[in-house]
Amino acid sequence: MSIYYSNSANRRADLIEQARQAFIERFGPEPAAVGVAPGRVELLGNHTDYNEGFVLTAAIDRGIAIAGSTREVPTARVASLERNDTATFDPQKPQRDPQALWSDYVKGIVDQLAKAGATVGGFDAMIASDIPTGAGVSSSAALLVSTAQLLLNLHPHPIAGDPMGLAKLARRAENEFVGAPVGLLDQFSSVFGRQGNALFLDCRTLEWRAVTLPTSEARILIADSRVKHALAAGGGYSERRAQCEAAAVWFADKEPTKNIRTLRDVTPEMLEAYAAELDPVLEKRARHIVYENKRVEMGAEALETGNVAAFGELMSHTHESCMRFFENSCDEVDTLTEIAVKHEGVYGAKLSGGGWGGCSVVIHRPEVTESLCAALTEGYQARFGREPSLLPTEAAQGAESFRFGI
Ligand code: GLA
Repeated sequence: MSIYYSNSANRRADLIEQARQAFIERFGPEPAAVGVAPGRVELLGNHTDYNEGFVLTAAIDRGIAIAGSTREVPTARVASLERNDTATFDPQKPQRDPQALWSDYVKGIVDQLAKAGATVGGFDAMIASDIPTGAGVSSSAALLVSTAQLLLNLHPHPIAGDPMGLAKLARRAENEFVGAPVGLLDQFSSVFGRQGNALFLDCRTLEWRAVTLPTSEARILIADSRVKHALAAGGGYSERRAQCEAAAVWFADKEPTKNIRTLRDVTPEMLEAYAAELDPVLEKRARHIVYENKRVEMGAEALETGNVAAFGELMSHTHESCMRFFENSCDEVDTLTEIAVKHEGVYGAKLSGGGWGGCSVVIHRPEVTESLCAALTEGYQARFGREPSLLPTEAAQGAESFRFGI
């Protein structure tokens, strides 16, 4: 059974040390600084972010550390310990790799920092990661945000003191340079994460608040199907985004006085009133988003009033809505979710992230983690002939950077 138990307190320190040592082995001297950033788990609010809706998210205790130093030569050398690979490029003119490589995320940050007025010269960097890629826990945001943390430590700029500005800059790197039309959920979570807390974000006003997770009653398990997804332009993600936009335009036309900009502005009453007239596919997509926004608001309130059971139920409704209306799940993630919700001591489970693979997030009582992992492994193995990857995790602190030797 592949279960990776977290040893949370030391996990981040170990990761930083791994990056530091690998940097020395690869480049020689001690690195000057390190940026570290976590991945995230989407607790509620699936595909609501780019519809200017609400999300409930948490940073997790897994992420990326990138250790680095400036160099005299105006070239950047960025190595990945995990991939045993080095990318070399000119930081004044970062070019996207035709094969869409991991290094595009680093280059995208360099590009956006330059656009924000920072001067990024030559540097060496080493990446260490303890976050699975393609598992729906946003290794990409961890790489973007940790790189920004490192480079801002090496090249100070006022944006370092503006966390929301930093999250937005990282999102632009992903949208404009990498070419993935994602919302702000992942980068926000990675920057703002708080130990033991979920984060509620209004993706229109960018107002947010921390919501305590009752860790004595509820734990987070990430059940990764090991089906890889990709969010780059051209896939189901962009298609869903376009359908949501088309549905919003349709409603705006129907209700010209209501100032509808996005599906955020469509109420359940409007949806029900017009459901029969709208194109059936757009109706399903809109139904998912409109009610998902309600679920996020209700879910935050449930946690705030200590009602974990109600929160879990909302998660399971979200999963059903993904299956029936947004159609962004897959057999593997459905199977994990179904096994989980049948298990004793489980409050609820749902697909986390873009979809078409990745993971199910399961909220459960602390004492059932082990039996739940056994049931998931057994059931998944019986159905698909291979094991899922199981990560018990906890809500962790957001990104930070340090200088070595001070
Ligand atoms: C991916 C994207 C996010 C968000 C989720 C779905 O993780 O990066 O912006 O849209 O999918 O909620």
